[in-house]
Amino acid sequence: MTTELTTRAGLAALVGDGLPSACIDGRERPYLSLDAAASTSALPAVAQAVQEFLPWYSSVHRGAGLKSQRSTNAYEAARTAALCFAGRPAGGDDVAIICRNTTEAINHLAYRLRLETDDVVVTTVAEHHANLLPWARLCRRRYVECDRRGTFTIEDVTAALDDAARPRLLAITAASNVTGWIPPIDAIIDAAHERHVPVLVDAAQLAAHRPLPSGADFVAWSGHKMYAPFGAGVLVGPRAAFTDGDPFLAGGGAVDLVGLDEVAWTDPPDREEAGSPNVIGAVALHAAIDALGGIGWDAIATHDRAIQRRLHVALTEIPGVTVLGPDLPDAALPLATFTVAGVPHALVAARLSNEHAIGVRHGCFCAHPYLVRLLGLDPQAIAAHWDAVRHGDRHAMPGAVRASAGISTSLADIDRFAAAVADIASGRPAPVTYRQDSTTGDYHLDGSPGTGDRRALGASCARG
Ligand code: ALA
Repeated sequence: MTTELTTRAGLAALVGDGLPSACIDGRERPYLSLDAAASTSALPAVAQAVQEFLPWYSSVHRGAGLKSQRSTNAYEAARTAALCFAGRPAGGDDVAIICRNTTEAINHLAYRLRLETDDVVVTTVAEHHANLLPWARLCRRRYVECDRRGTFTIEDVTAALDDAARPRLLAITAASNVTGWIPPIDAIIDAAHERHVPVLVDAAQLAAHRPLPSGADFVAWSGHKMYAPFGAGVLVGPRAAFTDGDPFLAGGGAVDLVGLDEVAWTDPPDREEAGSPNVIGAVALHAAIDALGGIGWDAIATHDRAIQRRLHVALTEIPGVTVLGPDLPDAALPLATFTVAGVPHALVAARLSNEHAIGVRHGCFCAHPYLVRLLGLDPQAIAAHWDAVRHGDRHAMPGAVRASAGISTSLADIDRFAAAVADIASGRPAPVTYRQDSTTGDYHLDGSPGTGDRRALGASCARG
């Protein structure tokens, strides 16, 4: 592992910033990652904390040796830091369950709520699949619709909460991974609580950008989107929600006693963490929490705002580019999702990578229902696209391109990105031939080993 950095003008550098990346014109350019909404590189302090901890790595909660004690202390300190990060006092009524990521955290909660098939969870059409699918397979859903720009109001949420039987839960994002829009989450939580409906906040996108909403009953987030890419995420919620019934995972570490036909589960949070815990991930998460605390939310929000404005203004000035979502909202993450007229999203992403050394995400961003609304697709178009994908044809997958920034992104990075998009949108032919793999929808340089089954290589159109 290296903590070598290139100096840049963002708020803080990240490990691996600016790695030289060969482009098809034969030149090397510093790699520019504009995919922070998917995964962030590590903060140097995170890499350093992991490196310093590694010699002490050992079993957690299971060993009498010094290394086990150090590991257990580090793990529990991370748990306390996570609780504090979520605005909860250590030793209070809430627990922090350390898991893999937001998706696992929400699946965990969905299992633990012991929902009946007739129960209703209110959620929104703007959610990531992680906050749709766990509910869809267990119970009924009532959806808050969005408008043409992908936003909804508190009144829209309360109307859904008040419609018919009282829901078991409101499950809602604190920031969209597609438009970057930040709903008025504190007021929404208050409105749900006035109706005695508990709230889960999907804070995957918010966690690296703003304080977590301390009023939410349950909060889920991931380390890999907040500069701690070592496989730890968190579910915070009331201890009482986890004291009865089977835990999500059954196994060692979650029990007090086991017979061949009976089990006495231990208390939460350990009850919810069967198997050897990810202590390295927890150490990394703790270091990221401390590092973000050192930078401060005010500085991060100010930086985000400057980047977001530059990104939106630059993109909207490019002929043929359409930015999806609300116009320059005050409350938004530093990202923009857009289409380029006449150029498929997958080709835009391939050209940004091959010709400009810029990494973005394209496709539907694990938010299919939201994307089809933002793109304004009618039911016939949606049905045609389902039919095509069911037949293995993704050549016309609907989608868009997303540029998402983090604390290491500078305004100069945004200018470089906008110039590259302007070049692609200008209609100037690509300097090389790209061929599309219709099974994935992705474009590859002609002659490169890109055709055939690329799904195993992580082709980005293929998965949602
Ligand atoms: N949720 C992540 C994204 O939006 C993976 O890219």
